[in-house]
Amino acid sequence: IKRELLKKDLKNKKILITAGPTRESIDPVRFLTNHSSGKMGYALAQAASYRGAAVKLISGPTELKSPLGVELIRVESAADMKEEVFKEAESADIIIMAAAVADYRPQKYNPQKIKKEKGSLKLELERTTDILAELGKNKNKNQLLIGFAAESENLLDNAQAKLSKKQADYIIANDISDKNIAFGSDKNQVIILSEEGSAKLPLLEKGKLAHKIFDYIIDAERK
Ligand code: CTP
Ligand code: CA
Repeated sequence: IKRELLKKDLKNKKILITAGPTRESIDPVRFLTNHSSGKMGYALAQAASYRGAAVKLISGPTELKSPLGVELIRVESAADMKEEVFKEAESADIIIMAAAVADYRPQKYNPQKIKKEKGSLKLELERTTDILAELGKNKNKNQLLIGFAAESENLLDNAQAKLSKKQADYIIANDISDKNIAFGSDKNQVIILSEEGSAKLPLLEKGKLAHKIFDYIIDAERK
């Protein structure tokens, strides 16, 4: 048995994790989405469950199987995800926003399929709610709020800005320009930022990395 399976250092913790992309429908046949596979969020959910936590996983559309022992709630759009997260947030000890939530959605949904015509098509988009930032505003003292940052440039500066702007306790920063860890990869490398500083974790398979992330945060919270 792996060492991680025996460690129950998240026992009695309620953990809410989001994962995957969202889908923003344009009409009955088309939607806007992104390249998130959901693997990192699912790996975190599995790791937390193995370590004794009661885990709720709110996931956008992915091809992944539900992690063992985890309550999986499937959603589609950013608005659906917001609704489910807000329902569950208050009772959670730890919230981890690993989902790649759409920043924009079509301003109006076309109930009929849009027919092609000559020339270009203009699609008006509007902002979605920043779920993590809202959670940051309403956070209670004992709750840990953890976000991700996907950056293609200026990784540390951009991630640091998200840490303070969203009032998160930790931001887990991903360099999406790194060719070793393309979207959908089974491996990932991250830098964890907090007010106390930052730490670069090694390139690891996502299951192992999830445990390292919990190791790091649990240790940091003890200090
Ligand atoms: N996030 C969220 N709700 C949104 C958009 C993002 O909760 N509508 C969360 C993500 O789940 C992630 C964090 O915010 O934990 C950072 O997401 P990211 O896309 O990296 O940053 P944004 O703040 O959306 O900024 P930008 O995409 O412009 O870099
Ligand atoms: Ca974004």
